[in-house]
Amino acid sequence: MNKKELLFYDDYEAFYTMTKESNAFQSFCKDAFGEDFSQDGFSNKEQIDMILKYIPQNDDVHILDIGCGNGKMLGYLQERTRAHIYGFDYSETAITTAKTLFCKNAEFREGIIGEIEYPKEKFDVIISMDTLYFAADMTAFMAQVRNWLKKDGVFFVGYQEGDVIPKTSNAHTTMLVKALQENNMTYEVTDITKQTYKLLKKKRESAIKYRTLFEDEGYSQWFDMLIGQTEYINVPFEQFKEKMARYIYVIKK
Ligand SMILES: C[S@@+](CC[C@H](N)C(=O)[O-])C[C@H]1O[C@@H](n2cnc3c(N)ncnc32)[C@H](O)[C@@H]1O
Repeated sequence: MNKKELLFYDDYEAFYTMTKESNAFQSFCKDAFGEDFSQDGFSNKEQIDMILKYIPQNDDVHILDIGCGNGKMLGYLQERTRAHIYGFDYSETAITTAKTLFCKNAEFREGIIGEIEYPKEKFDVIISMDTLYFAADMTAFMAQVRNWLKKDGVFFVGYQEGDVIPKTSNAHTTMLVKALQENNMTYEVTDITKQTYKLLKKKRESAIKYRTLFEDEGYSQWFDMLIGQTEYINVPFEQFKEKMARYIYVIKK
């Protein structure tokens, strides 16, 4: 498959070029999310800290991030554990940055969801924040993920409905759940829609706080994008939750 023809490829190349260079964006992430993971999503420090309890504390632990971007989430997790980190993403720019930033016990690969392969039962923990929507065949991809997980391994997913993919009725009716059920995979889910509403408000305030810095760097278009991504909060929560939802799924093999 020619990845340059995939959804948003050029946009992500531009995004990860900007995240490398922009102090405004790095400061914005820290302010909005509590940590700079170069998020193009909705994962704050609190959500990523939830993963820590699933990572065993020994030297033979291997964790994979699907849609790892420039690797900063994995770097954060590695600093707090003894894990070997693995990540893949289709963005060449993101993976080049990840390889520069994280060299110890780390493997970053350019790869497309559904095409890349890893050895069977390699990982203790697999994470994927705001990325599974890009799987061309979610059921087939879940079968691959299941195969890559060790026995008793954990798959941790941040999953948003209402922007890239439409909102379904509830946490048990999502495309992801359908794909998990087709693979006989069980899950626990936490609905964090309310927290996300608050986070989006914070994200908007933080963007506005760094507006001049974005403009001075010549990155006004990214400021506009952040404002665009937070338009949803201009309605009361009761209305917001009709259109948007965010869930954390913990799937055990
Ligand atoms: C919404 S961003 C989330 C990034 C990061 N996990 C986060 O939470 O900030 C989606 C990520 O998936 C990557 N991506 C999109 N489509 C992909 C595909 N088909 N195969 C591999 N990576 C893809 C993008 O480059 C981007 O890094």
